[in-house]
Amino acid sequence: MNNNYITSQNGAPVADDQNSVTAGARGPVLLQDFHLIEKLAHFNRERIPERVVHAKGTGVYGTFTVTNDLSQYTIADHFQGVGKQTEVFVRFSTVGGEMGSADAERDPRGFGVRFYTARGNHDIVGNNTPTFFLRDGIKFPDFIHTQKRNPMTNLKDPQAMWDFWSLNPEALHQVTILMSDRGIPANYRQMHGYGSHTFSFWNAKGERYWVKFHFRCQQPIANLTEEQAAKVKGIDPDHAQRDIVAAITDGNFPRWQLCVQIMPEADAEKYHVNPFDLTKVWSHKDYPLIEVGMMELNRLPQNYFAEVEQVALAPSNLVPGVGASPDKMLQARLFAYADAQRYRIGANYNQLPVNCPHATQANHHQRAGAMAGTQCPYHQSQTGGDAAANYGPNSVETGLQDASQFKEPPLRIDGDADRYSRFDQDDFTQAGDLYRIFSEEEKQRLADTIAGTLSQASHDVQQKMICHFSRADADYGARVMAALAALTK
Ligand code: HEM
Repeated sequence: MNNNYITSQNGAPVADDQNSVTAGARGPVLLQDFHLIEKLAHFNRERIPERVVHAKGTGVYGTFTVTNDLSQYTIADHFQGVGKQTEVFVRFSTVGGEMGSADAERDPRGFGVRFYTARGNHDIVGNNTPTFFLRDGIKFPDFIHTQKRNPMTNLKDPQAMWDFWSLNPEALHQVTILMSDRGIPANYRQMHGYGSHTFSFWNAKGERYWVKFHFRCQQPIANLTEEQAAKVKGIDPDHAQRDIVAAITDGNFPRWQLCVQIMPEADAEKYHVNPFDLTKVWSHKDYPLIEVGMMELNRLPQNYFAEVEQVALAPSNLVPGVGASPDKMLQARLFAYADAQRYRIGANYNQLPVNCPHATQANHHQRAGAMAGTQCPYHQSQTGGDAAANYGPNSVETGLQDASQFKEPPLRIDGDADRYSRFDQDDFTQAGDLYRIFSEEEKQRLADTIAGTLSQASHDVQQKMICHFSRADADYGARVMAALAALTK
């Protein structure tokens, strides 16, 4: 029975939701007012920990349509059959700020895409940049500490930020992107997205390819200047959230073309950059973009908390035909996300409607844990098989079987287990190449933006950074030095 009167959580009608039960008109509240107690107790539990990074964000559903069949490279269901459509959910975010921070910060933008495929959920949890600040996940917590608040002053800390970057020149390429005109996207609709890491594809013949994902924005790219961003932050700290809600509500659906760069497995040995180094891009001349399909975002979530705050995107959500790679950053991320989500949301977070598979059913032997048994709106059961059999192998007629037809081809690994230095690589060529394609005005704005915060760091950190900029391009170093001198004067 569906009535439109208000009820308590057990479904019982509530006769008065406006006034507490009191002993007399001016008397104290009675403990027997369990409706009041339920409201207050639930309110006390309304928050879960915010994401440790990418806390501020927005989410939208949409559709991915294949325009170019990729079956020669991958058995992935959602990348084959021209015209095939797959539901998607995308969460855009900033990185360093808290949930209440402004959308117009100079910061990479998270670009996390979930494909609800017929063979399980495939997540590409990337950014709006093709590279990252680091090449080894062991440095991620240290790096993020420099982006967050100083543990003593609770203030953002330019000294910590530049100190870390000056001692980790591998960050230079990404720092150059971040400080350039590309550093503050105008909103979430007018920017490209990247899987950033190298992933793998494998096809029906068991051949492996290394892959980079690119979401090419179909809206004009737009960025804010430092001055525009300062104004926007003051007027509307939620401007990018507002922009997405308005666009979808108005039927102005944003689109991205998904493309891939594909490298045959054996090329990795001989390519002139390490293809598993996240601080580097692959030249489009060497590995041109291959179109896959079009993603359109067209449906807003109905419950921000349930669907956006509790979405659990994870690089480890892979499906047959798409695999990981030896990229050290990706390897760390394969652990980090599901671990964070068990803590942030709870052991059965994958049973929530936004996280459970929509186009197939999850079949496994996991039964218990907090909140087990959430009803999946898409399927009868969250676990499949025989309800009573939570072990395998079993001889139950409807018991679950291994899906050996989807086995990933083996990957040959060799070498001694060791901690290999991350410093002995070329950190400067690609940062310099990027600098050299900027116009005179862009180069000057880049130098001025860098000087704006680098001037707040110590002299020795400034000197180390100028040395790195100069190694990328002599003019880059000289310009930052001059911009610093002008500011100091
Ligand atoms: C969110 C860890 C590198 C993109 C997160 C979260 C963690 C995390 C713990 C919060 C997850 C949650 O609570 O749901 C790490 C670690 C990294 C790393 C350990 C390096 C080893 C990266 C890189 C990218 C990236 C390289 C992009 C290329 C994102 C995005 C989100 C996120 C987009 C937000 C996902 C969402 O919208 O829910 N990261 N991260 N991260 N990370 Fe990373």
